[in-house]
Amino acid sequence: MDDTHAPLIEDLTRRRGVIMLLGAADTGKTTFARQLMAAALVTGKRVAFVDADISESTVGPPTCVGLKFIDDPSDLDDLEAADRLQFVGSIKAEGLVLQHVVATASLVNQARGETDLVVVDTTSTVSGVIGQTLKYHKTELCQPDAIVAFQRGQEMGPIVGMLRRFFSTEVEEARVSSTVLPSSPDERSGERAKRFAAALTTPLQPWRVRDTVFAPTLPAGLDQARLDAMLVGLQDGRGACLGLGILEESDGVLRVLTNHGEGMRGLRLGSVRIDRDTFAVTPVRLREVMFGI
Ligand SMILES: Nc1ncnc2c1ncn2[C@@H]1O[C@H](COP(=O)(O)OP(=O)(O)OP(=O)(O)O)[C@@H](O)[C@H]1O
Ligand SMILES: [Mg+2]
Repeated sequence: MDDTHAPLIEDLTRRRGVIMLLGAADTGKTTFARQLMAAALVTGKRVAFVDADISESTVGPPTCVGLKFIDDPSDLDDLEAADRLQFVGSIKAEGLVLQHVVATASLVNQARGETDLVVVDTTSTVSGVIGQTLKYHKTELCQPDAIVAFQRGQEMGPIVGMLRRFFSTEVEEARVSSTVLPSSPDERSGERAKRFAAALTTPLQPWRVRDTVFAPTLPAGLDQARLDAMLVGLQDGRGACLGLGILEESDGVLRVLTNHGEGMRGLRLGSVRIDRDTFAVTPVRLREVMFGI
């Protein structure tokens, strides 16, 4: 591990507020987040980590944004168990920018009130209309005090230029260390499957569900078999997500398989089906599931 970023980390630990990390896949965002939080703890700051990477998740399962309060350096060794979760419902930003931005802003705002420094890790979608729209609105709603953009070449140029033009937030550019090696798509999906497996540990409890508990609401007369294998977020009735579940339809009965059934008040439909054995996810369009269009 090189210490290219040591001066930047030293500078950032002197600040308070929200620091958002942007960068493509494997640019060292999460490693930097850990180093920054460790350094901030040394200065006596109260620290929180918001993991808004819904694909390569660190806190909580993929498809969710997770918040973890970092009270002690040892918390940095095990970031998987979230203190609070918000369900987004996909591993891709496409089509769910609203859900993604709102989930992130909700947890950032909660963390901001309770800590000195909030570090926000983000998804690696940094190009094209989706990437730019996502980062624009995350910045608009989360109001970070500083943004760090990690880049290998010039790939962050358009986003950095846009953020500097539209917001007063300071944007720091950081070079990716040449020792950081990209991971393969198989490695990434393998890691993701492990994260889902941890969140959906068997044996999952089956809970019968009524068709009135969903958001968005199911259309009248929907053939519930169409919901089989859909991933859902279990909601506690106070705006928070308790964890994930998988819908199962058999013989006309709809159930949710989960480890978080206690206290669930409603189910949010995601935009993926998930294979219960491999945890491979397939994107679906909710409108198509519900209305066939
Ligand atoms: N400064 C560094 N020096 C050497 N290796 C590093 C450094 N930063 C990160 N790495 C290594 O590079 C790999 C990718 O780092 P990391 O997971 O932090 O990137 P990321 O941008 O969060 O990736 P992802 O897109 O998967 O979320 C890891 O194996 C990590 O150990
Ligand atoms: Mg990461």
